Amino acid sequence: ADPTDPQVVWHQHAVTREMREQQAGHRGFVLWFTGLSGSGKSTIAGAVDQQLHALGARTYLLDGDNVRHGLNAAPKMLEDRYGAEHAERFGLGFGKQDREENIRRIGAVAGLFCDAGFATLTAFVSPYRADRDAVRASLPDGDFIEVFVDTPLEVCESRDPKGLYKKARAGEIKGFTGIDDPYEAPANPELRLLTAEKGISELADEVIQYLRSAKKMT
Ligand code: PPS
Repeated sequence: ADPTDPQVVWHQHAVTREMREQQAGHRGFVLWFTGLSGSGKSTIAGAVDQQLHALGARTYLLDGDNVRHGLNAAPKMLEDRYGAEHAERFGLGFGKQDREENIRRIGAVAGLFCDAGFATLTAFVSPYRADRDAVRASLPDGDFIEVFVDTPLEVCESRDPKGLYKKARAGEIKGFTGIDDPYEAPANPELRLLTAEKGISELADEVIQYLRSAKKMT
């Protein structure tokens, strides 16, 4: 089946991605951090974001908790303003389908930032391999850089910064990633970060080094 809709036509604007990248002095790309809750995704992505910013790059970090406050708000957050039916239809929770839609929307937004020539960082659990692969496939070759924040469950659980593992173990939260919901680790990530063994700044340096070797920046 033809996935396009004849009523929806792509428009090529005069300012191209190449022009934007030239002005920025670096390529657009998406650094996709994936890992368990509490693995350190946001912290490392934040450190890389800071380093890139200090180097003069145009950056933006799309972060799980923040995006779930707006674009991908939970039904409860939409109900007052839009009503129960709308909230149920468009609000997102943590079921498999909702996580899929969460990642699809974020992938689309990240793709736009990337097209704008930004060093785009995303930090979402993104537990399903197929959902991450779909984002990779939607972007031009080489734009999607998968960063596996590889922290063992025991370490994440012992950190438990939001107390959610405790609640999940107590059965107060159902479908929590790593406890009673799956996490499908990347088979072939561009980068694998071992947070239990190395410090944040060392790991951020590894990412910057990768970007240089992949010719995304100088
Ligand atoms: S996903 O799976 O990619 O759609 O999740 P994401 O948008 O990254 O949101 C994960 C954060 O939401 C909190 N949280 C949960 N995580 C996993 N499973 C369940 N059921 C769940 N419920 C709430 C959790 O704090 C995650 O935050 P991080 O920053 O990853 O620790």
